Amino acid sequence: MGPSALLAGGAFQKFSGTQNNMRPQTSEPISNARLDWLAEFQLADGRKLFFRHVSPDDEPLIASAISTASRQTLLHRFFSPIRKVPPEMLRRMLALDRSHEVCIVGLVEGSEPKLVCGARYVRIEEAEAAEIALTVHDDFQRLGLGEFLLRLLMRMGREDGIRIFEAYVMNSNVGMLKLFEKVAPGHSRRHYEGDVSRVVIELGSKVS
Ligand SMILES: CC(C)(COP(=O)(O)OP(=O)(O)OC[C@H]1O[C@@H](n2cnc3c(N)ncnc32)[C@H](O)[C@@H]1OP(=O)(O)O)[C@@H](O)C(=O)NCCC(=O)NCCS
Repeated sequence: MGPSALLAGGAFQKFSGTQNNMRPQTSEPISNARLDWLAEFQLADGRKLFFRHVSPDDEPLIASAISTASRQTLLHRFFSPIRKVPPEMLRRMLALDRSHEVCIVGLVEGSEPKLVCGARYVRIEEAEAAEIALTVHDDFQRLGLGEFLLRLLMRMGREDGIRIFEAYVMNSNVGMLKLFEKVAPGHSRRHYEGDVSRVVIELGSKVS
């Protein structure tokens, strides 16, 4: 199995967006909570999410998201229905080398920040290639966030000089496979091992 999905990045252009739309955005971060701000997204019910690079301070928010996610979501993301990531492992995951990995998180606006999704890519041995993974908390699935995250990741990857994204996906993960079909219809999918497939997306190809 490839490395367990993460992400990198230097100074990315900022984007704001609605469900399927991102555009260059110039406004500055408005608070520390918005440090490393990348994009925003409005749900159909009006709630706003903002996206930024992950920070080591996000550890409790991530631990909380993992502890309340469904067994299926955890299984599809980690290939194991873990309920708790050991704090030391979480700290290591959050100490990113941005020249190599990018990890973005999406938070719901409000007095208490709530982390509801995340996506990452980590460069792999082949030049200009990276492994990706994304997760949307069960309470926020089927609202367009997975599509938004994947498009954002692809855009960031291109900006970062990456040409190929690969992902390891369980064959039972219909949602993720359909998401790839929708956003990157030119992707290829091959059996990897067990019930896991390897999906490859050429970032140079057209994004639908
Ligand atoms: C897969 C996942 C990221 C999708 O995120 P999401 O926010 O629910 O997806 P979206 O609402 O953006 O859906 C976009 C498209 O993906 C497809 N899709 C997503 N979930 C689906 C599901 N459960 N069944 C069928 N199609 C689905 C649809 O084509 C959908 O387009 P539509 O709404 O026009 O039908 C999310 O379910 C998740 O985090 N799952 C657990 C972790 C995981 O599997 N990660 C992938 C590891 S690589």
